[in-house]
Amino acid sequence: MCGIVGYIGKKQAAPILLEALKKLEYRGYDSAGLAVRSDGGEVNVIKTQGRLSKLCDRTQNGTAVEGTCGIGHTRWATHGEPSEENAHPHKCMDGTVTVVHNGILENYRELREKLVRNGYTFYTQTDTEVIADLLDYYYKKYKAGPVDTIARFMMRARGSYALAVLFKDCPDDIYVARKDSPMIIGAGRGEYFIASDVPAILKYTKRVYYIENGEMARIGRESVEFYNIDREPVEKHCVRVKMDENAAEKGGYEHFMIKEIHEQPKAVELTLNSYLNGEYVDFSDCKLTDKFLQTDEIVIVACGSAYHVGVVIQYVVEKLARIPVRVELASEFRYRDPVLGKNALVVAISQSGETADTLAAVREAKERGVRTLAIVNVRGSSIAREADRTIYTFAGPEIAVATTKAYSTQLAVGYLLALEWARIEGRLDDVQCAAYIEELRSLPQKIEEILQNKTPIQKFSADHPTMKDVFMIGRGIDYAICMEGALKLKEVSYVHTEAYAAGELKHGTISLIEEGTLVVGVLTQRGVSEKTASNLEEVRSRGAFIVTVAFEGDKIPVEANGAYTVPATDELFAASLIVVPLQLFAYYVSLQRGLDVDKPRNLAKSVTVE
Ligand code: F6R
Repeated sequence: MCGIVGYIGKKQAAPILLEALKKLEYRGYDSAGLAVRSDGGEVNVIKTQGRLSKLCDRTQNGTAVEGTCGIGHTRWATHGEPSEENAHPHKCMDGTVTVVHNGILENYRELREKLVRNGYTFYTQTDTEVIADLLDYYYKKYKAGPVDTIARFMMRARGSYALAVLFKDCPDDIYVARKDSPMIIGAGRGEYFIASDVPAILKYTKRVYYIENGEMARIGRESVEFYNIDREPVEKHCVRVKMDENAAEKGGYEHFMIKEIHEQPKAVELTLNSYLNGEYVDFSDCKLTDKFLQTDEIVIVACGSAYHVGVVIQYVVEKLARIPVRVELASEFRYRDPVLGKNALVVAISQSGETADTLAAVREAKERGVRTLAIVNVRGSSIAREADRTIYTFAGPEIAVATTKAYSTQLAVGYLLALEWARIEGRLDDVQCAAYIEELRSLPQKIEEILQNKTPIQKFSADHPTMKDVFMIGRGIDYAICMEGALKLKEVSYVHTEAYAAGELKHGTISLIEEGTLVVGVLTQRGVSEKTASNLEEVRSRGAFIVTVAFEGDKIPVEANGAYTVPATDELFAASLIVVPLQLFAYYVSLQRGLDVDKPRNLAKSVTVE
């Protein structure tokens, strides 16, 4: 979480820093700040609590701040409340060092105590102020320059960090370092850019250096040098990124979330086409051989919506390939000493490729000698680089904090993997495989049809402005879809929503059903729809307001207060279609409530802390 930027060149830094920060606001948005070095050598720090727009106002869009070298930050608070004082950048006591930080310094208490013993006073509640002071301490104690200072810090620090640092004595340089938090450097002509994520600097350059874990860099106006933790120079090549700058703009939509919901047909089509060769699945671009995929145990690790994709894929793989699949929350997996067979395959799913827990789960699996396969959207991200193999999704940049199109493309890759595993296991012949692929190819058009049928959802959201508690129930894949639908509604509209396996409600939760409680029943899995229908009857007779979501043409065995249908597809692929009305519902309820759809409270897009 938190976004970091930096600029050094011949242009005025502040407007560029603010422009880049706008592209990173999805990473955190409770306060923001800049540190810009004036031509006189003074480092001016300007910070504001709240959205970045406040910092833009305070600095007249950066024009009121003079200087051609600076760093900036947009914060998602971890240590210390969101306030101006806790906002970054942080200076050490006498201003020798100024720092912006993304991540968490886990041993900050111990380091703080050490610094207090050495005469330092602290003015904020942040772990970042400890970093500024510790750098200052090493800089003055060992007098061996910034690279040595940062290396000493890296050896002493526990936790995750991406740092950009200004040393008062080095007016023509910015220093950076990273461990487990993302950071890239963009190269221009006589200028360099620093950012937590590539889209922040695409307006200025497409030439990028990726800094690896445990590396540092000195960035001047004309050159950049990289070092490892032993202070030895590291050779690095600039990569030209293939990303469209405008892909991260709203393109006429009111919000990124609705734009990204509408991008789903294209994103799913592109992802499918990238790995389909006529009537066959083809992962050869990802160096995925049958030998690599062959396994007797699949363990999917992920967080949030990506975890929900895993739950759907578990049903699909087990049905088609009959390989046992386990889906685990990455945050649990990493600490619970999981049992993994020698021939297990760990599959990590992540849009950002930077989620700390998912990354840690990949490392855990690798340490135990288990193969890892990642499904990732962001090119060159940490998980993509560290997993043994990576399948990229083609969602394009996803800016809204609530994921939509990334979820859909992850599902698409999951279906293709399921078909591959089924083929390898000899459970699917060419004809059956071709039939599934034909059905998959029809999904983008069917999603498009749902997007043309938004009005009933809009109207329903407007007609039910006061809903308080919502339950989404289903069985099998329908339950997995409910998990995602419930998360969407919760996170963007702040309506308490729970997903329940339909048969489980009566084991306690049914006591929460009151007159008018909204219960959404998803009924696409025909073998169990009648069972779910009976569960809907049970809540209806206790006063619930029932809405069903099902395939067009299917008979709904329950008398509902409302019904929404989507085009029919194979039951195994139902999630790809049913999720769309649930996403739209969450979006319209949020709008109806006047909330910030793209940046819901307390959240950040990329969760790079535990
Ligand atoms: C919800 C949402 C989150 C993410 C989760 C994992 O809308 O976006 O639950 O799915 O934080 O993020 P990634 O996929 O980047 O690992």
